[in-house]
Amino acid sequence: MPLLEILRCPFCRSSLREDGDGLACVGCGRSFARAPDGIPLMLHEELPGARVKLREAEGWLEKARNEGWYEPDDTVDAVLPFVNRELGWNDSNWLANGHSFEVLLGRYIDGATGLRVLEVGAAKAWAARFWLERECEFVATDILVDEKIGLGRGAFYGDFGRVQADGENLPFGDATFDVTYCVATLHHALDLPKMVREMVRVTKPGGTVAGLNEGIRGVGRSADNPDQAGEKELGINEHVHTVWAYLSAFARAGAVVRRMERSDGWPPVPFGFFLSRVPKVGMTLGTLAHLSAARYAGVSIYARKRG
Ligand SMILES: C[S@@+](CC[C@H](N)C(=O)[O-])C[C@H]1O[C@@H](n2cnc3c(N)ncnc32)[C@H](O)[C@@H]1O
Ligand SMILES: [Zn+2]
Repeated sequence: MPLLEILRCPFCRSSLREDGDGLACVGCGRSFARAPDGIPLMLHEELPGARVKLREAEGWLEKARNEGWYEPDDTVDAVLPFVNRELGWNDSNWLANGHSFEVLLGRYIDGATGLRVLEVGAAKAWAARFWLERECEFVATDILVDEKIGLGRGAFYGDFGRVQADGENLPFGDATFDVTYCVATLHHALDLPKMVREMVRVTKPGGTVAGLNEGIRGVGRSADNPDQAGEKELGINEHVHTVWAYLSAFARAGAVVRRMERSDGWPPVPFGFFLSRVPKVGMTLGTLAHLSAARYAGVSIYARKRG
């Protein structure tokens, strides 16, 4: 289906029409430009927090240049997120991204094809190849449209929908997607419950909503994680919530959490290990106990929209 058919104004949710090089809302009349490669720019400057979010996008460019990963490498991008397995890297973050994404595909997609899938905070949109091979209609969104580390680079993975969008103000109608998920993005939200609410809103009743590999802090640990200091200095909006804050955001948004586990898939030892052996709910309860006692760690949450 053409992207324009599911795209909506993030202010009034009306449809959009082509307007010169950009788009115009048929309801409130606001205009939205397109990037030179055609990506619709739906993070409009009047949206709440737009200025700091666009500042964050600049911060990612600065971070990538400082750390030497701004220039894309086809060999790496072709195997993301499995750089440890395929290229012998030893990167705990990609390990957790890869594990959590495999759980999403294996347990919650389970061979299904033809789904409509939304990723929030997709960056380069490395996941596209997995959705396209399942004949899914994939839409990747991010605030970052850069051609090397943002959505612009998504062209490397094929032809699919790419939209600059704020996860807290998604430019889609209610109940549009079968699956809505993000990887290491919810903790960048200025308003975590709002981003989760938006992800649930655009998902069809009974659809899957997942937040993969989100950094968390143990109960009573400081919300100032020293590991995030450098990114905050660059204007990247970093937060570290407890596992309870995530659980509550999903529950209040109308999603039933089916499973929570450590994002790297390791068993919740020592705290929570025995609980994790209980059939069905055990892993979620064990993870809650384990991550409540942790210092800083990562969690993945798999939920289903009620209805
Ligand atoms: C840690 S990166 C993860 C990127 C990607 N998911 C991956 O695994 O490679 C977090 C991403 O969230 C995006 N982001 C931050 N705030 C956002 C927002 N309000 N809406 C959508 N994306 C956002 C950033 O631009 C960045 O690309
Ligand atoms: Zn409008």
